[in-house]
Amino acid sequence: MSIVTPSNIRKNAFQITWLAIVCLAICSCEPGTKPVSYNQDIRPILNENCLACHGGIKQQGGFSLLFEEDVYQPTESGKPPIVPGNRNKSELYQRIVHHDAEYRMPQEAAPLTAEEIELIGAWIDQGANWETHWAFIRPEMPAIPETESDWGNNPIDAFILEKLADAALAPQPEADREILVRRLSLDLVGLPPSPQLVDEFLEDPSEGAYERLVDKLLTSPQYGERWAALWLDLARYADSNGYEKDHPRNIWRFRDWVIDAFNRDMPFDQFTIEQLAGDLVEHPSQEQLIATAFNRNTMTNTEGGTEDEEFRVAAVVDRVNTTFEVYPIVAGLLPGNSLQTPNHMLPPWSVWPCPALLWVDSA
Ligand code: HEC
Repeated sequence: MSIVTPSNIRKNAFQITWLAIVCLAICSCEPGTKPVSYNQDIRPILNENCLACHGGIKQQGGFSLLFEEDVYQPTESGKPPIVPGNRNKSELYQRIVHHDAEYRMPQEAAPLTAEEIELIGAWIDQGANWETHWAFIRPEMPAIPETESDWGNNPIDAFILEKLADAALAPQPEADREILVRRLSLDLVGLPPSPQLVDEFLEDPSEGAYERLVDKLLTSPQYGERWAALWLDLARYADSNGYEKDHPRNIWRFRDWVIDAFNRDMPFDQFTIEQLAGDLVEHPSQEQLIATAFNRNTMTNTEGGTEDEEFRVAAVVDRVNTTFEVYPIVAGLLPGNSLQTPNHMLPPWSVWPCPALLWVDSA
């Protein structure tokens, strides 16, 4: 694997955050008579445009959009922000369409687009149903769409075909086998296929050749390297200490632990326990102790004249920030969050455990 530097990691974490925001943004659908979903259509608009002032710590006008129990309460003006079934009686709607920029929300920003406004209006008219965060909704097996076509190899393809039909598109013909093997290899192991792998696949016309190729790539050691790289970026893994001196750092055994965890298909709860507290499990193994190096990836300042206590505290804060950034990201709760941005939107928990963890981490 290549040498990773702290600035690279920051850049990657930033790109992942943006990717998450873009994904949220393109989820919004066109308005109309079709039912509007709070999670899919409305939450992204409010998160993006309102939560900085109306969620968690800042509750301008006594109005918070963070929890269901707050949203339907009268605010400072005494006007109900949302009257389910009636956009015109809802202060929230009145304020996003207000003709006077001084009153129009979002304050001191461009108005919402006509499409966003219509979605919010339609959502209120349809009863303003609040949905809990999707990460807390138990997944249920949806009905598989019935299709006339014999296109597709598995039930997921039926959903794809349905969406294609909605957009008046038809499936593309299947790609050539050379292209398939290249794509698959880049996806699963992050490397182009070896000439030998290509030949094997091209020369195997038997049923299930593609599935066997998938299995082969999934069991290759490079699979773990490819997928560990994503986690190592989030865990701010680096082969050097950061700051001005940026001396080399020897922490590759943690890198190898992560690669191995992917290759062994370690369950996510175990993956989490061992990294956060591998030293606290009963009779920890050497490997479990190595896993806790997750907490040791903070930058270290070895410049002359620095105050040790200052950088010890910086390391503790970084550790807590990282833990809260990577776990909400993987649970799909937030596009990144940080201890040091208190008026940033908060996750959907009413008790914010950061200060407690800061204390534990510091001890
Ligand atoms: C930059 C900060 C800021 C942003 C962003 C913002 N607001 Fe506000 N909002 C305020 C302030 C300050 C007030 C209180 C003063 C006022 O009523 O104009 C307020 C008041 C309100 C009120 C009235 C509360 C009452 O007392 O009746 C509503 C409703 C509201 N905002 C909705 C929204 C919505 C919806 C969005 C996003 C589309 C939004 N706000 C974005 C700052 C903001």
